[in-house]
Amino acid sequence: MQRAGVSLVLLLAVILSFIGCLASHGRAWSLPFRRRGEPWREALAAAKVQYAAQRETHWERWAALVRQRTVSSEIDNEEEFQRATDLLRRWLAEEAGCVDVQVVRRDNHSRPAVLASCGFGDASATDTSSVSSILFYGHYDVQPASAVADGWTVTDDAFAPVTRDGKLYGRGVSDDKGGVMALLAALHTMRAVEQSDLVDPHHRGSRRLCVKVLFEGEEEIGSPSLTALIAQHPSYLFGGCDRAADAIATPVQAVISVDGGQFDERTAQLVCGMRGAAAWEVVLHGAARDVHSGAWGGAVPNPAQALAMLVAALYHAENHSVAVPGFYDGVLPPAERYGGDHERFLRAASRAMPPERQLATHLGVSALGGGERSLYPHLVDRLWFRPTLEVVGMGSGYYGPGIKTAIPARATLKLSMRLVPGQRRAAVLAAVRRYVERFCAMHLQAMGIRCEQYALPFAADPYELPIDHPLNRLLEQVLRGEYSRRVLPMRSGASIPALSMLQEAAAPAPVGTLAFSTEADNLHGPDESMTLSRFDKAVATYLHLLYRMRFEAVFPPPPPRDEL
Ligand SMILES: *[C@@H]1O[C@H](CO)[C@@H](O)[C@H](O)[C@H]1NC(C)=O
Ligand SMILES: *[C@@H]1O[C@H](CO)[C@@H](O)[C@H](O)[C@H]1NC(C)=O
Repeated sequence: MQRAGVSLVLLLAVILSFIGCLASHGRAWSLPFRRRGEPWREALAAAKVQYAAQRETHWERWAALVRQRTVSSEIDNEEEFQRATDLLRRWLAEEAGCVDVQVVRRDNHSRPAVLASCGFGDASATDTSSVSSILFYGHYDVQPASAVADGWTVTDDAFAPVTRDGKLYGRGVSDDKGGVMALLAALHTMRAVEQSDLVDPHHRGSRRLCVKVLFEGEEEIGSPSLTALIAQHPSYLFGGCDRAADAIATPVQAVISVDGGQFDERTAQLVCGMRGAAAWEVVLHGAARDVHSGAWGGAVPNPAQALAMLVAALYHAENHSVAVPGFYDGVLPPAERYGGDHERFLRAASRAMPPERQLATHLGVSALGGGERSLYPHLVDRLWFRPTLEVVGMGSGYYGPGIKTAIPARATLKLSMRLVPGQRRAAVLAAVRRYVERFCAMHLQAMGIRCEQYALPFAADPYELPIDHPLNRLLEQVLRGEYSRRVLPMRSGASIPALSMLQEAAAPAPVGTLAFSTEADNLHGPDESMTLSRFDKAVATYLHLLYRMRFEAVFPPPPPRDEL
């Protein structure tokens, strides 16, 4: 099978380079399907042939990175991070020809990030209007995985990747080592084309292309160092590739995250928004220790009962909206905030998403009746446009087999919030704190319950980039070039903290996503996987974007950033 694949690729290479020769040698020979005025298409075709001849090497490197157990939430794995960053540094410097590759960290306790500066084309290009520059963001850390305990079926070690039925399996294969390695493969391919004597020089592109890279090691724990890291290296990250004066003159024109996803194997999407996130913990204290429920029941306050009262008071009973005053401040009904785009989102969702009943069956519930269903009957409004306050953890008392007749000494509550544009995270958390404080003072204190509350380190501001923003327009063209179906404008209810952090730091350059995970990959779960064909498609799509930038001024250069 594989040998047949390789010879097919070689045959294709021969045919394509023949076509390339014909096309580049004079008018008389140009072929009817050659689109005039778009030389980047030929360059892209040549680059894809180059990649196809090397793709098994790239798959092997991808698996090699997956073998490094870079679980950011675990401790004592400094060496694993060191090995992973060594690999990335070597590949960026030696294969992708990037210069000034640095492994940096905020302080001795944070995970390292890898930065690189990769210039293509004429470094002496002094005319800033002939430089295209972009920063790619991704992460090489992963979620924990214990193959046996978590029920992996394809391997008994989640960090020993296996290929089966055209998929690579292993922790981080999709999230986000797939994105990181597909980008690296694209940069390596572009470098190989640039250095090859066999390639028509016209296929290298006419513009100077500057690619900046930031791979962080703390995304899965909420990017706690990212803001500080960005502040420590602003001109490296957001300036041009060519040091000194040019670094300031040609700032990055866009930032792209390689973390994120497509709808499915064949349907591409533009992710135009993600919700923000915040988390809160409340601990209610009763007696100093658990006490006999017969000896003391009726006198000692019960934190579990108090917790149930508090949780009930967080929501309006009749419409299930959040009862915390100020929680919805700044939130507009989606039709009002997004106008006609709201309809476009709903249409795209109804085209791509299975019917609500089917989703409910898939999830094993009789109805998707959570949240503010009576107020926002449309599922997509509740998933993409409305903020939520969810109880994600309640703990108190005994829940083993049988009964233990003791009044628990304490009860804990964990709340996860998803926030939408218009809300301010600090204001929402302050509103929750005030509400819990008042509830405790009014209802629990007299019982003898003491309340404690604090924010948990899980924070992201909402992210959005309008459907018709020039960056999304470009990404749509790029995706349409590589996917056969139309590109759907979508949003996501989940959060990637880095997106809003980068958005703030990179402004006025916009931040978009071009990433290839799908729901079927089972990110964060057992048997995480990605199809090899989707990895190839990711590489092709990154090449598509890079060659557009190599040949065309796809973005107007933003005004210079003062602070660089
Ligand atoms: C970090 O580690 C280096 C080298 O081990 C040490 O010299 C430095 O003092 C440490 N810094 C802090 C803030 O602990
Ligand atoms: C939900 O119910 C509460 C309690 O009746 C009411 O105050 C609130 O206005 C309702 N929310 C909406 C959006 O109608």
